[in-house]
Amino acid sequence: MTIVEPLDRVDASLRVPGDKSISHRAVLLGALAPKISTIRGLSHGEDVANTVTIVRQLGATVTVGGDVVRIEGRLDGLHGSTTPLQCGNSGTTMRLLLGYLAGIAGEHELHGDPSLSRRPMDRVAEPLGRMGVVVRGRGPKQTAPLHVTSSGVTVAIDYDMPVVSAQVKSAILLAGLVADGPTTVREATPTRTNTEDMLEYCGVRVSTRMVDRVRCVTVWPGRPGARDWTVPADPSQAAFFVVLGLIHPRADVRLEGIYAAPERTGFLRVLARMGGRLDYDADAPSTDVRARSSSLQATTIESFEIPSVDEVPILVVAACAATGVTRFRDVAELRLKESDRFAKSLELATALGANAWAEGDDLVVEGVGDARAFGYFHLDAELDHRMVMAATVAGLCAKGCEIDGGEWVASSYPSFFDDVSSLR
Ligand code: S3P
Repeated sequence: MTIVEPLDRVDASLRVPGDKSISHRAVLLGALAPKISTIRGLSHGEDVANTVTIVRQLGATVTVGGDVVRIEGRLDGLHGSTTPLQCGNSGTTMRLLLGYLAGIAGEHELHGDPSLSRRPMDRVAEPLGRMGVVVRGRGPKQTAPLHVTSSGVTVAIDYDMPVVSAQVKSAILLAGLVADGPTTVREATPTRTNTEDMLEYCGVRVSTRMVDRVRCVTVWPGRPGARDWTVPADPSQAAFFVVLGLIHPRADVRLEGIYAAPERTGFLRVLARMGGRLDYDADAPSTDVRARSSSLQATTIESFEIPSVDEVPILVVAACAATGVTRFRDVAELRLKESDRFAKSLELATALGANAWAEGDDLVVEGVGDARAFGYFHLDAELDHRMVMAATVAGLCAKGCEIDGGEWVASSYPSFFDDVSSLR
């Protein structure tokens, strides 16, 4: 059980860990190249550590020296592993790997922890099946453990995304590296662009264009080259401290070097619209962010504003502190994350003293108007790092809280509670 004591005041500068999405991809792409890639600022969470362990199993060499990780693939390419590939809690590892393994001929076993083993993999298995990769899991949702059979080459496809998911898009693009022609993915709601951007930077031919408001990404077959990466700070982790800075009654929080791609900074635009006193450079590729105590007003958040819903639990905490009724539209995807974040966010909001309810796939919160009015509460965060961090922020603002499962911050942010302690 983790006990969170309230904070009297907050005046702090922080640097949160390296972006998790960029970290996974830098490791995966580095392992494909036959020369040495370096990564500075790699996320130190367990999710990315699982990806590192897996590329080692597949034959890449990874060494760590201080803040620099060196990765080298093999001239003759990666090979299958005789032991299962353990993805732990990490959906990104499992889904990206399914596409990645398309290029490694053979049979592969993928495992996950109890949280990951209930998450749907059919969304990746279906397009990969069209490309000639056979993914078999349990039941209609194709849940882990998974068995993958690949020939090492794929059939190029042209795919309209039925779900909003950067992980699914990325799996298809990675499988496209060994296709018999150009592979295209069409997204009506644009998601984070790391895979296509990083592939292009590694020398793979990629094109992105808008056709009738649909983003079409095409990748041509090719082998990525080695590169040197510096990973900016993770905006989804920064979001917890940004909301703390806004809703805590006596706060001034500065966050350094946040990755600021538009698909990732929707939460900053939403919070600014709610009246948050925020300073940041919206046009820079990465930016410092300053958040100061504010009186927040309710708003309506459209689903395209936060495409991957990662920041919704902490925005629910912000909505609880706001005046009025905030509506998160079409957030059904929350139910399919590390926990059922739809149910957990409602539970957290209710525990804080707000009125919160579901209207179909909308999540609606009537705030209490001031975080000082939050009550003492208990939350079982299940196996979900983001629920732990959202609950902690709420506890720091008013009367504290107790959290079961606090150790799950290790998935993405092992030093989270050290950073929280440094605020005291
Ligand atoms: C991620 C994509 C998102 C996000 C996850 C990381 C990625 O998931 O929630 O934390 O790195 O591609 P979806 O693909 O399910 O939207």
